[in-house]
Amino acid sequence: MKRIICKNYDEVSLLGAEILAKQIHKNPQSILGLATGSTPVGMYKKLVEMHKKNGLDFSQITTFNLDEYYPIKKSSDQSYDFFMRDNLFSHVNIKPENIHLPNGESANPEEECIAYEQMLAESGGVDIQVLGIGVNGHIGFNEPEDELKLATHLTNLTPSTIEANARFFKNIKDVPTKALTMGIGTIMKSKSILLLITGGNKAPVVKKLFSGVVTTDVPASFLHLHPDVTVLLDEAAVTAENR
Ligand code: PGA
Repeated sequence: MKRIICKNYDEVSLLGAEILAKQIHKNPQSILGLATGSTPVGMYKKLVEMHKKNGLDFSQITTFNLDEYYPIKKSSDQSYDFFMRDNLFSHVNIKPENIHLPNGESANPEEECIAYEQMLAESGGVDIQVLGIGVNGHIGFNEPEDELKLATHLTNLTPSTIEANARFFKNIKDVPTKALTMGIGTIMKSKSILLLITGGNKAPVVKKLFSGVVTTDVPASFLHLHPDVTVLLDEAAVTAENR
């Protein structure tokens, strides 16, 4: 894992956007794996700026998102479908047919997961996967458990994730309790990974992530086994002992 400590959230956002822009310049037909949550919002803003000011071209880019609540309507402003349109897709020249998210409206979630995994495989695979990390160590919605699933699957959200995500909903009771998520194996198949970690509330999980073990208690720890991971952290997320 390559670790880069940035001064603050803005620097993480800019560097993250520069890494993605470099990938887009290198291969204008890149397959990008994208993530939602508060952390990548600043990075998406910078990418939109790069598109508007410097013509960063998304016309041949394909995207696959990590996860989506289940069940949820795409039109709901809490859906990740909505989030991605709002933060990135509506502001750049990506073709709608090149955008993929697990379908939270599917009547058959198991079939949806198989189809999603198949589409990913047929695309040739993700060139760079953006990830955030949950306060509980999850990546995507791969929550800490005794066993982690390899492929895209329907999962139950842990109380800690429901609580963390309640800030986006009117009431904690409105947070869906399930989600469709790429599995750990799906994520590990990406050619490269960009993990963004910002804010003091992530310092405890950063400490666990860099404690020198791989454990299903911290699903992100499996990323230590991937050959090409860059972790961008801000100073707030790093305690003195982790420098
Ligand atoms: P956050 O979420 O960026 O909103 O902290 C990260 C995650 O849960 O993966």
